[in-house]
Amino acid sequence: MNLLRALRTSLTIVATVAVAASAAQLPPPIELPKPKLDNGTTLIQALKARMTGREFSSVPLPLQTISDLLWAAFGVNRADGRRTAPSAKNWQEIDIYVALRQGVYVFNGKAHALEGVIAGDLRAATGLQGFVKDAPATLVFVADLARMKDASAEDRDLYSATDAAFISQNVYLYCAAAGLTTGVRGSVDRPALAKALGLRADQRIILAQSVGYPKK
Ligand SMILES: Cc1cc2nc3c(=O)[nH]c(=O)nc-3n(C[C@H](O)[C@H](O)[C@H](O)COP(=O)(O)O)c2cc1C
Repeated sequence: MNLLRALRTSLTIVATVAVAASAAQLPPPIELPKPKLDNGTTLIQALKARMTGREFSSVPLPLQTISDLLWAAFGVNRADGRRTAPSAKNWQEIDIYVALRQGVYVFNGKAHALEGVIAGDLRAATGLQGFVKDAPATLVFVADLARMKDASAEDRDLYSATDAAFISQNVYLYCAAAGLTTGVRGSVDRPALAKALGLRADQRIILAQSVGYPKK
């Protein structure tokens, strides 16, 4: 009986340590400052400047810039919770994972906050090109297929890709307006990155997009 109790106690300790260890992998959440929406660049100026860049300075982005970038990408812009980018049937199935030097976070648009996903620098794992590791931030657009209620497999493929593309263009235009460099990338080892991010089978990586200051 005592042996059984001792065994149970040690199993509880092992389980507690395991939970604590996995919690330690989570970077603490980042509260984003309120987005500053007073950038004076016109839409036409941003459209004129929009381009793909592949050379990045490694200087980190200030939190205010990350906040503004994510709001522009897919932030809530109306009282009913709808966003700066459209989504088919308002599924809002695209989650933006944000890989920074210190860890990977997922953008919570409603709370306008970054929730910790995994500690450590995974930027190099977000693409197959050399410059990927240099950009201070990489956004990974991940479709949560579970949110696409009653969609056929064909519609899930089509609309998750379309919805991610709208967000990507918002990022392009924000970066053009803010003097940042950005480049969207389909060249991603999706199975390896999905594993590194601990994604479920019904979460699908659509595209990655590097963001940073231009290389001097
Ligand atoms: C769906 C998609 C996937 C892309 N994948 C990559 C990529 O993996 N690597 C890359 O360097 N550029 C990638 N690009 C960027 C294109 O090469 C780029 O948009 C194109 O050359 C036109 O240049 P521009 O964006 O400066 O007009 C991708 C663009 C799109 C729309």
